[in-house]
Amino acid sequence: MGTTQLDDFVERVSERSDIYSVISRYVPLTQKSGRWWGCCPFHNEKTASFCVTPEKGFFYCFGCGAGGNVFKFLSLIENISYFEAIKLQAQRLGIEMPTRRASPEEERRRREEKTLFKINEQAQDFFHECLIRTARGEVGRKYFAGRGITPETIETFKLGYAPDEWESLLPQLTRRNFLPQQIEAAGLIAKRKNSSGYYDRFRARVMIPIADVAGRVVGFGGRIITEDEDAPKYLNTPETAVFNKRNVLFGLDKSNRAINAAGFAIVVEGYMDAISLYSAGIRNVVATLGTAFTGEHVKLIMRYARKIIFCYDSDEAGQRATIRALPIVQTAGAQVHVVQVPDGKDPDDFVRKHGKEAFDALIAKAQTLIDYRMKYVLARAELSTADGKRRALQEILPAVANIDEAVTRNEYTKKIAAALVLDEEIVADEWKIFSRRQTTDDTAERKPAVQRARLPNDKACAVSDACESVLRMAWHEGDVLDYILIAVPREIFSPTHQEIIAWLKTCAAAGVRPDEISAAQTLSDEANAQLSKILVGGADEPRDTELAVFEDSMKILRRVALKREYDALMAKAEEYITSDRETYAKLIRQSLKVKHEMDTLKGN
Ligand code: UTP
Ligand code: MN
Repeated sequence: MGTTQLDDFVERVSERSDIYSVISRYVPLTQKSGRWWGCCPFHNEKTASFCVTPEKGFFYCFGCGAGGNVFKFLSLIENISYFEAIKLQAQRLGIEMPTRRASPEEERRRREEKTLFKINEQAQDFFHECLIRTARGEVGRKYFAGRGITPETIETFKLGYAPDEWESLLPQLTRRNFLPQQIEAAGLIAKRKNSSGYYDRFRARVMIPIADVAGRVVGFGGRIITEDEDAPKYLNTPETAVFNKRNVLFGLDKSNRAINAAGFAIVVEGYMDAISLYSAGIRNVVATLGTAFTGEHVKLIMRYARKIIFCYDSDEAGQRATIRALPIVQTAGAQVHVVQVPDGKDPDDFVRKHGKEAFDALIAKAQTLIDYRMKYVLARAELSTADGKRRALQEILPAVANIDEAVTRNEYTKKIAAALVLDEEIVADEWKIFSRRQTTDDTAERKPAVQRARLPNDKACAVSDACESVLRMAWHEGDVLDYILIAVPREIFSPTHQEIIAWLKTCAAAGVRPDEISAAQTLSDEANAQLSKILVGGADEPRDTELAVFEDSMKILRRVALKREYDALMAKAEEYITSDRETYAKLIRQSLKVKHEMDTLKGN
């Protein structure tokens, strides 16, 4: 499929997509003064600051700054890529995607992956048969039985056993016409060091197949069943073309529907924890494979639910892993809760000893991120000194900084103050300082902006509002941009606005009208969100009002530009005041001229 074909496709989907009907599937919208409003699905809020303008095809949230076109919305809410969102929408509209001819390189890679899946599948069957049907599998059956794993669970997870032999899987697979090189690429065999040939990587271990979301076997974990001190407890498939621990979650192929239905996923650390919980009837569970929880993992889960409950081992390592995982999940916008399994146990031990109801009760009592963080910090804090208290407070604040609601804030201020034995006022002050530091670190646009009046009068907002309305005009009337830039130097605009300006100029130079599709493709997320805000802001104005707003805005910006120029001239003049009277006088004259223009602007 060529690019033009692809462009056509995107255009067709875009033309037939009505942003109102798409968004109202997810968010109830009500009409108010020509626009549609609802509660933003991307952050917690009680009053509607999420706005949709169907005629322009944009949405924008005045609370959190999320914004864009219909595909951007879908990609955010479904947690898929921009292009996947286009495909999803095409599917919903029944528009067929033009088929694409893959490059030879892609063709080769796809074939290779397919072979690896086939080999893994065959290996899974082989290990499984060994476990359930052969005499040498007896040790494996005993091992699983000893851990309370039932035959049904063995069937569900297709658990297996790799015999204690150097070559058992290898001949099995070569007999099916797979090449040793291919089996090696699947990570199942390795080259012998001192002679030619290969040997089985997994020996004398019970085998746990690992599947991707689509249920294709991508790798294995093999657990040792003897008390061998030297061998690692688990041996896993090394990284292959289809296996990378950072983007696989064990069990997700089986648990995704349950996760969707429950509205949350339980994340555990071990294979056996996931298997054990699942077979106890707790189906919305996944396990990481002994690696840190990654952004990829969050994305996988967020296809099915926005809430994640961490249930890591209660040892120090498990707790530290939890703390490390939290910012990753929080950044992705998921809700995080944490469950601590009592008395030093892992979830597997707990559910086998106390049963499903007891585990459900633990889940029901899951702590919020904030409470968990507080407990963790407090357990390690040095509260006998003022310095220790201050440090503990600084560690707790990142977890609470995002709370906007006054009531909840107040509640936590009390809680923290009580826990640290500090004055509530001190906590409140430090919190304020912390939040302020955070907002200034972020870009100015990300600040939770209150809905503002259309005509700028509040000074702090006036300049950015003015920037927005002149850019709105530039979007509609391409020629206006040059006029704007003659009167207002680019530096007056924020970096994000400058990005939009640069792009508008490229469009103008190429003689094409800017539209939201090419915006989405070329501009950064930040700039796209800003652009949506700009366009949503000016919806359904009668034309003369729009013009009046534009002229007022130009005046505001012109004044800012002149003020800058004036300040610069005065500073420069200062330098010559003693050394060069003539230059000094010239600069002062220039600055007076600028001052005069400023006064004229103010006058009308
Ligand atoms: P655990 O030791 O907590 O796993 O390690 P588990 O499933 O509870 O193990 P047992 O069978 O009940 O004793 C957590 C995860 O870390 C990885 C595995 O993915 C394991 O499930 N791991 C652990 C390894 O990859 N290699 C190891 O040697 C140990
Ligand atoms: Mn365990």
